[in-house]
Amino acid sequence: MTARLRPLLDREKIQAMVEALAQRIQQDYQGKSPLIVGTLKGSFIFLADLVRRLDLPLEVDFVQVQSYAGTESSGRCRVVLPLSTPVRGRDVLVVEDIVDTGATLNCLMEYLKRKRPASLRLCAIFDKPSRRKVPVQIDYRGFELPDEFVVGYGLDCDQRYRHLPDLWALEEE
Ligand code: PRP
Repeated sequence: MTARLRPLLDREKIQAMVEALAQRIQQDYQGKSPLIVGTLKGSFIFLADLVRRLDLPLEVDFVQVQSYAGTESSGRCRVVLPLSTPVRGRDVLVVEDIVDTGATLNCLMEYLKRKRPASLRLCAIFDKPSRRKVPVQIDYRGFELPDEFVVGYGLDCDQRYRHLPDLWALEEE
């Protein structure tokens, strides 16, 4: 079977959304030094675009979480790569590429909450609400996507396509 890519969102639309999200974050975090937490691997491109638009004394760290969304909706997960920055008392903003079932983010937010941050918010550039199994509050939400397999802008299929600047639907032929 071969795969076919169908364009969903071009880079100009994506960058306009990143700018809109950055403006809101910039306003809300005035006077603060947020800790921006990217979730590996998918968020690395969005995070890089977002932080370069923020004029704040921010710090960046990464975390990698593996969820078990396929088999259950309890939000169980494993932290594969922990943060290297202390979270207690920090204004933490989690930056995610996509929220799908919600299992990964639900689990990650609970994990971070236990570390007693001063505040904890979530920014996700893509959201597939029709796939949700576990509720997740997205404070800064970009595009709502239909239930299609998407690649590009950090998102992969078997680790491929992450580097594509636009967002594509991947279809089997
Ligand atoms: C993707 C994405 C989210 C998660 C969302 O990561 O980056 O972290 O899935 O899915 P969920 O809402 O159903 O939990 P993935 O596990 O594919 O790893 P990756 O970021 O390394 O591609």
